[in-house]
Amino acid sequence: MRLFDKVKTAFSSKQSGLQLKPLKNTDLPEVLIIEGRVYDFPWSEQIFKDCLAMNYSSWGLMHEGELIGYAILSIAVGEAHVLNICINPNKQGLGFGGHFLQQLFKVAKGKKAERMFLEVRPSNTRAVGLYEKLGFAQIGQRKNYYPAGDGREDALVYSIDLNPTVI
Ligand SMILES: CC(C)(COP(=O)(O)OP(=O)(O)OC[C@H]1O[C@@H](n2cnc3c(N)ncnc32)[C@H](O)[C@@H]1OP(=O)(O)O)[C@@H](O)C(=O)NCCC(=O)NCCS
Repeated sequence: MRLFDKVKTAFSSKQSGLQLKPLKNTDLPEVLIIEGRVYDFPWSEQIFKDCLAMNYSSWGLMHEGELIGYAILSIAVGEAHVLNICINPNKQGLGFGGHFLQQLFKVAKGKKAERMFLEVRPSNTRAVGLYEKLGFAQIGQRKNYYPAGDGREDALVYSIDLNPTVI
């Protein structure tokens, strides 16, 4: 069995070694290392601090005691907006991001959200592939939303109805 298949199989068991934990300021050094590795235009420490101070729904994904990813969501009036979701590059493509999002569906549903929204760069084929696999549908496109090396890049806006999605 390949590592990828092993990880995916492990998710179905309670011994997956994966858990969500509320993100704290003390996690920010690790978060900032991952953020800097992953994005060409990373969030600053101050942005993360502001999100925590504003009590955004902020989660770390722990795997066997190691922080391997994080997500920041704004949840209000029945809507959850994913502002940032990230998996450490050395753990990407193993199913962790999909697992994380499914846990976040439950978190959002627990806070009475009925829909989840997010923006993604069209060039981010891995993220787009994951969102579509999980049932997100594109509902719009924002022109020149993101900074890019040669100017600006559009954002695709995706949404999912959490009611049938979360058990
Ligand atoms: C996007 C991200 C969170 C996904 O997490 P991940 O752990 O790498 O994703 P997974 O391993 O769960 O991938 C699951 C699905 O993504 C899709 N996928 C994975 N690699 C892909 C690729 N190279 N191209 C297209 N789709 C891909 C597939 O549908 C895959 O499912 P499958 O292999 O079972 O068919 C992660 O890659 C990441 O942190 N990227 C950098 C930060 C980022 O772009 N965040 C999102 C901003 S909107």
